[in-house]
Amino acid sequence: MAFSPSSASSSPVRSRTRIAVVGAGPAGLMLSHLLARAGIDSVAVDVRTRHEIEHTPRAGILEQRSVDLLADSGVSDRVHRDGARHDGIVLAFGGGGHRIDFQALVGASTLLYPQTDVFADLADARERDGGDVRFGVRDVAVDELLSDTPVLRFTDADGTRHAVRADFVVGADGSRGPCRSQVPEARRTRFARAYPYAWFGILAEAPPSAPELIYSHSPRGFALISQRTDTVQRMYFQCDPAENVADWSDDRIWTELQERVGANGHRLKEGPITARSVLPFRSFVQEPMHHGRLVLAGDAAHTVPPTGAKGLNLALADARVLAEELERAVTHGSTAPLAAYSERALRRVWRAQHFSYWMTTMLHTPPDATPFDVRRQEGELAALTGSAAGSAYLAEGYTGWPRER
Ligand code: DHB
Repeated sequence: MAFSPSSASSSPVRSRTRIAVVGAGPAGLMLSHLLARAGIDSVAVDVRTRHEIEHTPRAGILEQRSVDLLADSGVSDRVHRDGARHDGIVLAFGGGGHRIDFQALVGASTLLYPQTDVFADLADARERDGGDVRFGVRDVAVDELLSDTPVLRFTDADGTRHAVRADFVVGADGSRGPCRSQVPEARRTRFARAYPYAWFGILAEAPPSAPELIYSHSPRGFALISQRTDTVQRMYFQCDPAENVADWSDDRIWTELQERVGANGHRLKEGPITARSVLPFRSFVQEPMHHGRLVLAGDAAHTVPPTGAKGLNLALADARVLAEELERAVTHGSTAPLAAYSERALRRVWRAQHFSYWMTTMLHTPPDATPFDVRRQEGELAALTGSAAGSAYLAEGYTGWPRER
């Protein structure tokens, strides 16, 4: 139904739920799924349509604990059927490749299973279970966060206005959503770091060029060779954050990628490029992750640069811990579990912040790098790959740390 001015001027439809969730990406949907399993109602809204979320290419690596959460909580059998187990990665530098063997080093693996598929599985599971999820809403606002019953307001895709009272509001609305700024400046600390580079990400119709991911350091800059299916591949190369995708033909992209991996002895299988975009890099944390009856989850509270693919895994870990603490909060009518959630989640967040920063700065060439800087990075990579302890440290962080208490 088209938006009609009369419905905008009439009073909103009022309803009541336990948990109002702003943002129906992986963090928001996993949370509402886990809450439903605990018998707790929620309403989740997102300004994006389901189609938009499902068709925006995102990262593709799941830690074992993320896979277990999806499978054990009944979201997805598909993750085991369609996910590709990866027992290691290749770090390429100084003219050669060095495999980090996750299984031999830490007895763990990762699964290549795109975030868009995780999202589709979660959206299907919420639909199957009769969950209340509204995509394509607008005019989202949260209010009365210091009262006992905060309110979520929005206009749905049909133009009907809603006011949903809840016990708690969850901001899972990503790094550009409004929720993080609902915490007054005097009540929060923001930690941020910018990087002088970005990733140029592509999807290409081509067979895989390698069985495992290749993280390739080169004097021309970093490149990452990932996969999607037997016929579609995902690759990235370091670029200027202001790079314009329109300036890059297929030929120019393939030449750049081939040079970067060729320096380390790899050769890519080429094909038509079907998607291209520039992904900005940023490290960000807002502490604490709660205020009054508002609590933040996923990218709304923290952002990592993409190297090492921690963003989705952190969002799912937040949802798991938050579901436990919200269950306590609802049962006891108390806000104390929100502080416990923030403390527990931040312990993992800062480990992942360090890991993502470290992988990023070890592998990328800053625009002002001197020959010393490049040789020093090669020295770091040689020390790491030449040491069982160093390699195990990387493997442990990449495959994911144990669950926090
Ligand atoms: C992918 C993305 C990452 O950031 C990463 O470190 C590994 C893989 C991917 O999209 O496949």
